[in-house]
Amino acid sequence: MTANKIIIIGTGYVGKELARQAIDAGLEVVGTTRNDETIQTLHDLGATVYRWSVDDEQAPWVSHLGPDTAVVYSIPTLFRSYQEVTETDGVGSMPRHIIPIDRVLTLCEERGCDRFIYLSSTSVYGDHGGEWVDETSPLRPASPVGKMRADIESHLMNRNSIGAVTIARLVGIYGPGRTLLDYLQSGRYSLVNGGKKVTNRIHVHDIVRAILAIIDQAPRDPRIYNLTDGHPQTVRDLIEFITSETGIDRPPEESLEEYARRKGPNSLARWKNSIRVRNDRLRQEFDFQPEYPDVFSGYKALLKKH
Ligand SMILES: NC(=O)c1ccc[n+]([C@@H]2O[C@H](COP(=O)([O-])OP(=O)(O)OC[C@H]3O[C@@H](n4cnc5c(N)ncnc54)[C@H](OP(=O)(O)O)[C@@H]3O)[C@@H](O)[C@H]2O)c1
Repeated sequence: MTANKIIIIGTGYVGKELARQAIDAGLEVVGTTRNDETIQTLHDLGATVYRWSVDDEQAPWVSHLGPDTAVVYSIPTLFRSYQEVTETDGVGSMPRHIIPIDRVLTLCEERGCDRFIYLSSTSVYGDHGGEWVDETSPLRPASPVGKMRADIESHLMNRNSIGAVTIARLVGIYGPGRTLLDYLQSGRYSLVNGGKKVTNRIHVHDIVRAILAIIDQAPRDPRIYNLTDGHPQTVRDLIEFITSETGIDRPPEESLEEYARRKGPNSLARWKNSIRVRNDRLRQEFDFQPEYPDVFSGYKALLKKH
């Protein structure tokens, strides 16, 4: 069956856009958050909202789970260092970073949910020297967060007891209220290593269209989809585009070594990993066409409103 209700576990930036589009499409939406403003936004949209943290003993939203429900798990990895999660065992032998999502999946199994979608990240691919990657490419995550995501994905794929477990690997998200403009204007942004890094992006509007397509059309078997516009660009080209469109000063440059001294391993890995991410599977299986086919078209629309 196809779900007519979506439960968003962690209604942040993507979750709120998902709530908007799902309600517009006539679906019932339930969301969790710890944030007062988000509670108000979700109420205003007509969603049911629960204040909930992964540390809470009870999950009050559980009564909404059922065979008509798709669950979208949108909580980031909650630890920054890999040592932190592997040295300290949580329950039994399960590493600490897997416990929160495993608890939610268990509740979904108990209530016979229609589908479980995990919003993961293309950081699981690690560095492929600028080559194209698709969902079958080897995973070589370099960052602690990338490794944790890869562990979670593997746990979900192997466990997969509700059948339709889907992993959506997201690239860099942008959209209204989430652009590089504020960074550039604040002077906090630096162009690392000449901006040679390849960046893969997707507009939040298209992420949500892809999630809704997955809920509606993805097969019942475990499946992975890259969520990206499929048109990677160099960071330098993106920054040049924004600065020339807006008149904002070009940012200062910084070497990788200087950047590494200032930032931790997760940030450094983001600048060192070089991949070009394909979205052929999404396009072919769902006839999916991004409304913003590359980051320039997406930014152009955002800058018009700025
Ligand atoms: N930003 C990117 O470019 C990017 C790229 C790839 C993947 N992703 C991943 O894609 C997903 C969606 O991204 P996003 O930008 O929408 O994330 P976001 O705005 O940071 O939202 C994360 C959500 O998780 C919730 N959360 C965090 N810690 C929690 C805890 N301890 N207990 C309960 N809820 C908790 C937050 O709760 P509150 O509402 O209370 O804050 C929020 O609703 C995230 O997993 C993100 O890591 C992001």
